[in-house]
Amino acid sequence: MCYEIRTSLFAIDRITARSSAYAMISGVNYGEIRVARRIGTAFFGVIARPLHKQRSAPYVENAFANFRQSNEVTMALELPALPFDPKALEPHMSANTLSFHHGKHHAAYVNNYNNLTKDSPLATKSLEDVIKESANDSSKAGLFNNGAQVWNHSFFWNCLKPAGGGKPTGQLLSKIHADFGSFEKFVEDFKAAGATQFGSGWAWLVLDKGALKVTKTGNADTPMVHGQTALFTVDVWEHAYYLDYQNRRPDFIAAVLEHLANWDFVADTLAKASRA
Ligand SMILES: [Fe+2]
Repeated sequence: MCYEIRTSLFAIDRITARSSAYAMISGVNYGEIRVARRIGTAFFGVIARPLHKQRSAPYVENAFANFRQSNEVTMALELPALPFDPKALEPHMSANTLSFHHGKHHAAYVNNYNNLTKDSPLATKSLEDVIKESANDSSKAGLFNNGAQVWNHSFFWNCLKPAGGGKPTGQLLSKIHADFGSFEKFVEDFKAAGATQFGSGWAWLVLDKGALKVTKTGNADTPMVHGQTALFTVDVWEHAYYLDYQNRRPDFIAAVLEHLANWDFVADTLAKASRA
């Protein structure tokens, strides 16, 4: 993987620095990673973009792991851009659904998270650390719910692509065969998990202690707080499918598996998790 890396020195006053930095710097923009360090009244910024058409967070985050030091200024999260054209998933997921799901719901979680972490030590921590530290703490339920929903949705968009779905290949398919017996059994289990999640939540394919498993979580709950690595997910909150499928949640899950699943992303995520 190759990266375009730019460095710049931004001399800006304190008031402008705050708003400009928030606009410039993001830890969770899946198209690029921007980090910065305050030097006096200036910010020394580093911006990296993968020289690859596919926007995938793990590649970029790996490249910048070394920049994440305690004295870095980690600014407000930005709503990550969708890694596909909003109309590109039609007719299986409409642009209208995405305008609300991404443009309203996901955006609201980002805004809520930024408001909850603004001007606090939490603003310097990674989203993943905040999620793990706030899990199972009822006094931080709002922080956990919004942070985990930011992460879950960002991950979900990467699990989708136009003309996706069907059966994966290579190491991912071999691993599915080894741990589920067949791809068809995995699909059966995944559909059942999503369909039987009572109320809002998520269906997942995870790596748990070296084995693939299908799980489901309620509301904002997310595999990372259960010691699992998320590999694939389908959002089964009603806002994910109601405009297109009304009450037919099983049809929505089937459409994602058959037409939208980005198995390349899942395979890359599995490969990374297996090396960790
Ligand atoms: Fe959602």
